[in-house]
Amino acid sequence: RTLDWNPTQVEKQGFRHYMLKEIYEQPAVVRSSLDTYINLNWHADENPDYSPVNIGLTPDMTDNLEHIQIVACGTSWHAALVGKYLLEQVAGIPTTVDYASEFRYSPKPVIPNTLTIGVTQSGETADTIAALESERARRVNLDPKYHARLLAITNRAESTIAQICDCIIDTQAGIEIGVAATKTFVAQTMGFYFLALDLAYRRQAVSNQRISEIVEGLRQIPSQIETILDTQADAIEELAHHFTNETEDFIFIGRGINFPIALEGALKLKEISYIHAEAYPAGEMKHGPIALLDNKVPVVAVAMPGSVYDKVISNAQEAKARDARLIGVTTAMNATEAGHTFDDILTVPEVDEIVSPVLAVVPLQILSYHIAAIKGLDVDQPRNLAKSVTVE
Ligand code: G6P
Repeated sequence: RTLDWNPTQVEKQGFRHYMLKEIYEQPAVVRSSLDTYINLNWHADENPDYSPVNIGLTPDMTDNLEHIQIVACGTSWHAALVGKYLLEQVAGIPTTVDYASEFRYSPKPVIPNTLTIGVTQSGETADTIAALESERARRVNLDPKYHARLLAITNRAESTIAQICDCIIDTQAGIEIGVAATKTFVAQTMGFYFLALDLAYRRQAVSNQRISEIVEGLRQIPSQIETILDTQADAIEELAHHFTNETEDFIFIGRGINFPIALEGALKLKEISYIHAEAYPAGEMKHGPIALLDNKVPVVAVAMPGSVYDKVISNAQEAKARDARLIGVTTAMNATEAGHTFDDILTVPEVDEIVSPVLAVVPLQILSYHIAAIKGLDVDQPRNLAKSVTVE
């Protein structure tokens, strides 16, 4: 009797593609990053005199910090945009985000006491390495307060980026084989929560009570992602069937901390399904993109409850008035109310707005995956793309 398996199938652990396996690994990835970096004994009520987070930042990296600049490419650039929101809104530090390929040729005015962060899952992306190296070089002869302090957020602790940076946050997501990044995006985003919480604590930028709430929100993420995988995956696969033949364009909208999730949803779809997709901050639709809408262009609105929920809903209704098929990513509690607006709802558990991107991205990964898989495309190795781009 012969066994009906091959080594690749074993590595995929029964999943049809690596990408799907990696989507399902996300609860474990988040759990392990929480175990590594968050101090579970930390309670705001006890006024602890230590940070809830230990990512090994040295005082010379954090003292007098006035400015953070982040460089990255692709999906890592989207994690950086979530990071910017956290670093500004939670830690109160002005933060810029640039494409590494632009930053390296567009020198910025040099600001003292700057932390420069490179985000790269592979740690080998040529543009990101060059951006960080040029940043170090141009500051080296200046007054010490201008010297580069380089931090890498990477999934490869032995990579080139890790070697050229002063400090790293190792995202520890395990090897990612699917070219379209999924679990490493979530892990990078977790890295930014840890960084923002650590800096917020050190600078007392928000109350310890607020820090506790965010830590609690993060603690719930693994089981909440499991809930999405358990309860939504089949419905999303079903929905995907509607977009595999005629659909040529998709629009994604979001606002605030979830605008980067709209960008990431659009990128996932482009990368693996070859459907043209764009993402806009929902409030920008009226300044041009709304002209694209008709009944052939589905609109995905990331509408997580919080400060901009009502705004996103009204932007979504404007799209609906142009006959667009409207798909909403929102929470169960809002699903009934949102049911009046959306044609289809991808439901996620109740969550604090500040941690909501880590949940909102998951249904969008699954949607892209199924659209591409139903179309019979090579999900793990899409045409024209490489997992890591080590040349310019
Ligand atoms: C390539 C991959 C993308 C990835 C980007 C940045 O283009 O196809 O999925 O987001 O590189 O990779 P990095 O390793 O720097 O995160």
